[in-house]
Amino acid sequence: MDLTIKVWRQKNRKEKGKMVSYNVTGISQDSSFLEMLDILNNDLITKGEEPIAFDHDCREGICGMCSLYINGQAHGPSRGVTTCQLHMRMFNDGDTIHVEPWRSVALPVIKDLVVDRSAFDRVQHAGGFISVNTSGNSQDANAIPIEKNDADKAFDAAACIGCAACVATCKNSSAMLFVAAKVSQYAYLPQGQVERKERVQNMIKQMDKEGFGNCTNTGACEIECPKSISIDYISKMNREYLSSSFKLDK
Ligand code: SF4
Ligand code: FES
Repeated sequence: MDLTIKVWRQKNRKEKGKMVSYNVTGISQDSSFLEMLDILNNDLITKGEEPIAFDHDCREGICGMCSLYINGQAHGPSRGVTTCQLHMRMFNDGDTIHVEPWRSVALPVIKDLVVDRSAFDRVQHAGGFISVNTSGNSQDANAIPIEKNDADKAFDAAACIGCAACVATCKNSSAMLFVAAKVSQYAYLPQGQVERKERVQNMIKQMDKEGFGNCTNTGACEIECPKSISIDYISKMNREYLSSSFKLDK
């Protein structure tokens, strides 16, 4: 495949960026999207030009690092996959492909296609943890009965990889789907009960502080989420938030 790749190039946080056009030739349909970028970068390095900066780590849909807006869609045209799982067979020979970073005030561009996602880390640190003992001396997890539906819901919520496609896709730059997944993951399990009330309060407080927008129920986040996290978790988080506001047992 021969392709024209239009990529957002930006030197650093302060300087203005712009779309720059590159030609790549001889790309296999079986290549991943990131492998195609690797080949483009090898060409640039050979020519003595600066390679394109982009985030990646596991390259198997686990870490959530690869975060590209491809032809106006978070993680590109395939559903339920991350950018590293996207293959070039989704495109046609001769295509022009636009590649941009996530766009959100809370996720500023650091360089080219790399954004600063430390806002997500701070939201996670505000409550995405448990304090119960899970060391070798603790009770065997299998000895704690958990209702099947609750276990399934916790497991599905835990599939969130923190990629921030939901924020990039949302017209309000809302992080509600991400935060809802994290809050719900613990709220459905006995191990998450100790900090249950504080967790939802603190994570939402930090989310607002970071400058993420509000949810207006458009549902775009659910469609673009590579892990198909349901917006039902946002309803769950809203219920958690409301009930945690009544401090009757404190
Ligand atoms: S909810 Fe989905 S889109 Fe949002 S951070 Fe988690 S995995 Fe990514
Ligand atoms: S590189 Fe880890 S999810 Fe894509």
